[in-house]
Amino acid sequence: MNIQRKAIDVLRAAEPAEKVAAAHEMAELWRDGRLQIGGACDTQIPRAPGRPEKPELVSPQTVKRRRLGTIEGRAALIHAIAHIEFNAINLAADMLARYASSPRIADDKRRDFINDWVGVCDDEARHFTMVNDRLVNLDGFYGQLPAHNGLWEAALTTSKDLAARLVVAPMVLEARGLDVTPTMIHKLKSVGDKESAVILGIIYDEEIPHVAIGTYWFMHICHSEQLNPEETFKSLLKKYYKGTLKPPFNDAARALAGIPSTFYAP
Ligand SMILES: [Fe+2]
Ligand SMILES: [Fe+2]
Repeated sequence: MNIQRKAIDVLRAAEPAEKVAAAHEMAELWRDGRLQIGGACDTQIPRAPGRPEKPELVSPQTVKRRRLGTIEGRAALIHAIAHIEFNAINLAADMLARYASSPRIADDKRRDFINDWVGVCDDEARHFTMVNDRLVNLDGFYGQLPAHNGLWEAALTTSKDLAARLVVAPMVLEARGLDVTPTMIHKLKSVGDKESAVILGIIYDEEIPHVAIGTYWFMHICHSEQLNPEETFKSLLKKYYKGTLKPPFNDAARALAGIPSTFYAP
């Protein structure tokens, strides 16, 4: 079996436990050298990844704001994060299913590319489990609240252009996570929810390398195609991302992830 085919299995898995297990299994098989690079893939990449019947998907405007002073409010925040991690598993799997054989990645770099995204997918599955376990501790469960489909929509709009995918998913959306997570951690601590704060702290630390991986491969494409990275970033952003980049930015974390501040500063 090749890596693309296995990544499609991860995408197709509908129940959260099944998707998490498939992501970990892909990582194990890859590290054991049991998934091939290249070769034809007989299965189509699903347009919509497998997901449980709930959460109900609604437009972002109808997702309620949450007050962290109550257990329900914290459960709502943790639920939103669980949904992000669930989608992040899909985004990493889609990166492999769609782009593992991309001609825009140099052949002598392809193994590194796959390694990176297999690792990200494995991390996201672990993040989902941590957050979901915390949600259960708060008497919640994944699916209990509506959620929006923004992350997967970003995957669909960038399904034909690897550089655009790298800009929108890791370098904009995941980088946004780096901007907002420290405040969330601070708020959770201030209402006495140490357990949730610790989990978000772990995720925060591990998301910096994810953004770094996205930036690295974006730069790789720019260099090999002799594109100006900043101009390319900005033009892909304009074409593929509806929103604007909103400050405040976490400059320190973004710098650690290798995103030059000239890319996003207004
Ligand atoms: Fe994550
Ligand atoms: Fe991530």
